Amino acid sequence: MTEVIMILVLVGPPGAGKGTQAKLLCARFSIPQISTGDMLREAKRAGTLEKRYLDIMDSGGLLPDEAVIGLIDRRTAEPDCSNGFLLDGFPRTVPQANALDAHLAQGSLGIDAVIQLDVPRPLLEERLIHRRTDKRSGQIYHLVYNPPPPGAELEHRADDRPEAVGKRLDAYEAMTAALLPFYEQKKLLRRVDGVGTPEEVTQRVMSALGRPGSGGE
Ligand code: AP5
Repeated sequence: MTEVIMILVLVGPPGAGKGTQAKLLCARFSIPQISTGDMLREAKRAGTLEKRYLDIMDSGGLLPDEAVIGLIDRRTAEPDCSNGFLLDGFPRTVPQANALDAHLAQGSLGIDAVIQLDVPRPLLEERLIHRRTDKRSGQIYHLVYNPPPPGAELEHRADDRPEAVGKRLDAYEAMTAALLPFYEQKKLLRRVDGVGTPEEVTQRVMSALGRPGSGGE
């Protein structure tokens, strides 16, 4: 029997719900979530992230392409990626997208779909400023919509401060000017409305992938 390999890419502005959706979708497809942001924050916690990169991240800028491309090449070669994976926050630039295509082509693989989550900017700002993450489980919470349980060890990301949030949203707008047409031209882009409950958004993503209702409630 031929194994089905599912390779998905989630794109969307900071706060669009990529991390939230990635966890829900990965559970449905039984594939790992690969988030460059999470990998970089892990390196930051471990003290292995170069200071110049740490400063860029905390201020809301994008790291140079070469700092993230190698991370993805290595991570996707790990055994748990043999049935596919979901990329969250990578690629963010056309050079990163080209590097990914070249890397996948080495294994005769390609992307199945690029899902873009659309959320209006004022709501993004509101989501980011109220986001908290449980340090131990990685679970993402929102102080109003999805409040953390008592006892959660909460972290407020340095780049969720209002001054960094504006810079990240601007960087996303500049970046997508080139990245989205790149995937649109390849007919891989699926635009999904990211406003609604996380479960509603997941259902829309499943429909966009041609699997309405599969595994859903
Ligand atoms: P990264 O970690 O990728 O951050 P990001 O793209 O800014 O995205 P976020 O994690 O902020 O938001 P999200 O879309 O995952 O939203 P979430 O689900 O948490 O990158 C961080 C930094 O690393 C970058 O700025 C850059 O410096 C560097 N970096 C990473 N990758 C890079 C790359 N490829 N190249 C260069 N540099 C790179 O949700 C947000 C909030 O909203 C939460 O509180 C959540 O509970 C809430 N929420 C989510 N969905 C809903 C919903 N449907 N309804 C109500 N609330 C919701």
